Amino acid sequence: MTPREARAVRQRLESLAAAGVAQLPRAAMRGTAPAGDMTRAGGRSGGEPAAAAPVASTCDGDRAEALRVLQAEVAGCTKCVELASSRTTTVFGSGSPTARICFFGEAPGADEDASGEPFVGRAGQLLTKIIEACQLRREDVYILNVLKCRPPGNRLPLPGEVGNCRGFFERQFEVISPEYICCLGATAAHALLETAEPIGKLRKRWFTFHASKVICTYHPSYLLRNPAAKREVWDDMKLMMADMGVEL
Ligand code: URA
Repeated sequence: MTPREARAVRQRLESLAAAGVAQLPRAAMRGTAPAGDMTRAGGRSGGEPAAAAPVASTCDGDRAEALRVLQAEVAGCTKCVELASSRTTTVFGSGSPTARICFFGEAPGADEDASGEPFVGRAGQLLTKIIEACQLRREDVYILNVLKCRPPGNRLPLPGEVGNCRGFFERQFEVISPEYICCLGATAAHALLETAEPIGKLRKRWFTFHASKVICTYHPSYLLRNPAAKREVWDDMKLMMADMGVEL
């Protein structure tokens, strides 16, 4: 077992223990969902090996409860002294615990820090339009950030801050176990894939994170500054949706 796999197993067990799961069944139940179903109330679609499915996903209520427990842990986090002392509130993530797609952003801005919801400011409104153009609703997907606290002045997250939040976003992905993770911008892509390659070079390629397929695209804030790049993001969305069996 690699150190990364060992960390994933430890985090999964911690999430389950925090959600009150004291015993694990021998095998996870698996079901199927229709290709067009953007949440997985009936279970995952696709043909990954059974071992890839987290035991928590056998029951959707378990996932919601595991996320609630983790959210409470995040709310009490003071690991980044500067962020913890300047935040209004933590911004955990929102959407369906059974989402097939997670959109992964950088960090809360002023609007998110005030509301506690990810992607509600101008960039968030653009993300909502992108999601809806993919024939999805915000509540069908799950939206989260690398950092759960706003960096002062919206500066880039520091490596130590990403490291402090790593356990949180990895556990969110572990609980939700989405089929697809769409990294929005370089900060999210670098944090998840542990690479330093420029975002332009990470686009149009498939990566994996545990059982999830990962695709990278530009951040909506970048699109607000460079509207011409919307065409490339749309190409990336078409690639992801086509892989899900949805032609846009
Ligand atoms: N930018 C992000 O990366 N995340 C948000 O929640 C808002 C803006």
